[in-house]
Amino acid sequence: MNPQRLPRYNCDRSYQWNYDHPPEAPEIPVPDTSNVWQFCGHEIASPLGISAGPLLNGRWCCYYAQLGFDILTYKTVRSCQRECYPMPNLQPVQCGQLDGTQNRVPPSRSMQGTWAVAFGMPSAMPDVWRKDIEWTRRQLAHDKVLSVSVVGTMQEGWGIEQLAADYAQCAKWAVESGADCVETNFSCPNVNTCDGQLYLDIEKSAIVSEAVKSEIGPTPLIIKVGHFAEHEMIPQFLSAVARHTDAVSMTNSIASRVGVSDCELMFDSQQRGICGRAILDASLRQVAAFAQAIEESGTELEVIGLGGIETATDVCRYLKAGANVCHLATHPMVEPGCGLEIRANLPKNPPR
Ligand SMILES: Cc1cc2nc3c(=O)[nH]c(=O)nc-3n(C[C@H](O)[C@H](O)[C@H](O)COP(=O)(O)O)c2cc1C
Repeated sequence: MNPQRLPRYNCDRSYQWNYDHPPEAPEIPVPDTSNVWQFCGHEIASPLGISAGPLLNGRWCCYYAQLGFDILTYKTVRSCQRECYPMPNLQPVQCGQLDGTQNRVPPSRSMQGTWAVAFGMPSAMPDVWRKDIEWTRRQLAHDKVLSVSVVGTMQEGWGIEQLAADYAQCAKWAVESGADCVETNFSCPNVNTCDGQLYLDIEKSAIVSEAVKSEIGPTPLIIKVGHFAEHEMIPQFLSAVARHTDAVSMTNSIASRVGVSDCELMFDSQQRGICGRAILDASLRQVAAFAQAIEESGTELEVIGLGGIETATDVCRYLKAGANVCHLATHPMVEPGCGLEIRANLPKNPPR
């Protein structure tokens, strides 16, 4: 199949991005990267993965596995069912590179690489996703890594210990179902409870990562973080979580309000996570800051570079900044063949 004809988000109007309409996994030649890559104890054929979000279920994981991605992150799941926020869930925006100081970005009529993401981390019932993860692991080739993203769901009257136990329960279920790694989402700018921006609370991040690690034992634990406005916080964050963690993934998104003016704001004037091209530079700077802090602390944490990646050049910039592997979300949704193109264009000896 010609990669240009692959089903993609919003370009082919008959095609729906939801649980019930995953595309058929295509028969398509996948370019070799001429290298072997390591990720959390696994040997993989490329440094490319899909981050949490686009892969709604196992059939979505299989689709992207066929398109040259070697780490498949199953979308964030919860210990209970959770509905999606109302539409629009993906609002294109028009802006240059963001650094977290932008209070508002204007919406755009067409997708130009960047959008506001507003799903609120919906989840199927645990029985449903646990069975589906089992199925997914059986379908994927042995050299593909299945990572499962989990989040705790805050209940009224709960404190951090209960939230940590809820994260740990989801993580345990994911591992029992066959996950090769667990990713705990510590950042969701669309969620206004303490499970939304956990990474900004160092003490709570340590409590949750310890609870999860003690439940999943040797299975690698990845912590997904959002944008750190102050890089001075990074060494403290690392020293709090490093003992219980194998890798950190960044950047979830950069939060901003969306509207044509301060008087006409979308999403009830709440911030949403801006994802895609506009977060590339800030995410690269954050990866470099984490890589430096990891080196200085003598810990062995791996780094997943994420945010705004579209090309092999972007991947090389992340690897040079200190990422071990790279994940993508937005670009493969609009250009599903981009993994094939990135693999074909990676240099023989990429920076490591
Ligand atoms: C459609 C969509 C859904 C997402 N859902 C989640 C999610 O459930 N959990 C999560 O940790 N991140 C989620 N994200 C954030 C992505 O994993 C990623 O961190 C972000 O999009 C930045 O990468 P990008 O610039 O390549 O899009 C989502 C992103 C998109 C585009």
